[in-house]
Amino acid sequence: MTSPHKDLPKGIFIFVGENDALLTTLAEKIRTLGQEHIFMDCATPVENIKVNDEVAGVFYFCKEPCAQSSQYVFSLLKHLQNQFVPHAIICHFSCGGRVFSLIDKSNVFHSAETGIVKTFALENPGLQVKSIDIRDLNNMPDVDVLWKEILSEDNLVEVGYDQNERYVIEANCVPYEGNPRDLPQPKTILAIGGLRGITAEILQSLVSAQDHLIVVGKSPIVEDTFVDVKDERELFRLIQEREQQLSPVVINEQVKEILLHRERTRVLSTLKDMCAKVSYYSVDVTNDSVFGPILDAIDMEYPKIDIVIHGAGVIRDNLIVNKSEREFAEVFDTKVRSLFTLDKHLSLKNIPYVVLFSSLAARFGNIGQVDYVAANEVMNAFAHELDRKSAGRVISFNWGPWSQIGMAARLEKNFRDKKIYVISPQQGCDIFLRELHCGQKGDVEVFVGEGHE
Ligand SMILES: NC(=O)c1ccc[n+]([C@@H]2O[C@H](COP(=O)([O-])OP(=O)(O)OC[C@H]3O[C@@H](n4cnc5c(N)ncnc54)[C@H](OP(=O)(O)O)[C@@H]3O)[C@@H](O)[C@H]2O)c1
Repeated sequence: MTSPHKDLPKGIFIFVGENDALLTTLAEKIRTLGQEHIFMDCATPVENIKVNDEVAGVFYFCKEPCAQSSQYVFSLLKHLQNQFVPHAIICHFSCGGRVFSLIDKSNVFHSAETGIVKTFALENPGLQVKSIDIRDLNNMPDVDVLWKEILSEDNLVEVGYDQNERYVIEANCVPYEGNPRDLPQPKTILAIGGLRGITAEILQSLVSAQDHLIVVGKSPIVEDTFVDVKDERELFRLIQEREQQLSPVVINEQVKEILLHRERTRVLSTLKDMCAKVSYYSVDVTNDSVFGPILDAIDMEYPKIDIVIHGAGVIRDNLIVNKSEREFAEVFDTKVRSLFTLDKHLSLKNIPYVVLFSSLAARFGNIGQVDYVAANEVMNAFAHELDRKSAGRVISFNWGPWSQIGMAARLEKNFRDKKIYVISPQQGCDIFLRELHCGQKGDVEVFVGEGHE
């Protein structure tokens, strides 16, 4: 049920997208309510969108989005952010987007857009924000139904409509049924992003002595020139002595990198002790022209891969208003571009277990993480699409924050102060293994957080 609606804010309304029935019907509605609007197509560079008036709303719909057009939604909202009047309406539409990706064929970039819009809503609590997924443009909801949704006060950003039927995504607790299944023995595992953080921890609980393991990470394994120096302050002092022109900030970065590198080397050596064979490839997975041929070489050497784990990711936390296009692309491409390259070169639908590491941030949006939310929403939608094509198991783990290790560990105290549940490494590994052994085909998005131990 939608809640009662508010008055229309005053100012200009901007329609961006295809000039088709959906947007034109709403533009006509705005006109009959005595408000001005302008139309732009989705290819209009955001710098060219110059309005003298205050902006009362933006309506956006791109029928066939791609990676660039989903980034466009971020740039558009960033560009207009300071011109919105209080309670301005931001309404994003998709057709076969995040809500219906759970059941129908979808374009995963609609889901990226919804992730952007969800985060924009959190960063701008004074605005009325909706992301409305329409199942079939030939069976659209009535304009009055849409209008009521757009002006409703329920603070629910993400909704779907199949004609006039309203859909929302909800997580359910689903008990495991049946007997646990064994994983293939011996097995070949390909892990993207696996020499540190949570993927490294999980690999150490997953592998056994006969297994073959291929790990891909960004950093090369190089010689540690300070191998005997364990103390961080001593490392700092020695680097400063050797390279006197460096600032303390840069030296601290170098110390941090040495420690990370030691972590990778330690994990690689442990994994080598645990498996029959381990190969490590150092490559920036956002660079398709290098990553693609590496995957082809892996495919030649290991024709039967049993488990693929995609755990590569970076964060560059910043509010939308301060976030650069470059930061957005870096975070987005590390997950999304690499996932498409993986699928293109290894045909993921033929792999028995495909496991993607997404985040709870994708479900709820997260202040400062618009790029990360967008990327993880693509992973979730991609997983549903792949699950429909594949006979194997496809899982997108929407992890809550882990303690002690990984990208969220430095914020552990903040999470605990805010009473946000943190997953211990042991719990995370147990949950991962239990899901692989006991989960059912079709349970694609698995949320791991409070109440879901
Ligand atoms: N930790 C959490 O609490 C948490 C919560 C939710 C979701 N997740 C997800 O789980 C995954 C792993 O997170 P984490 O915390 O373990 O992260 P992490 O400790 O920061 O490790 C990230 C891994 O990704 C690799 N990587 C990053 N950019 C790459 C690139 N361009 N090319 C190749 N490899 C790249 C890194 O390789 P190098 O070591 O060579 O840099 C590293 O192995 C991520 O996808 C993250 O979004 C984590």
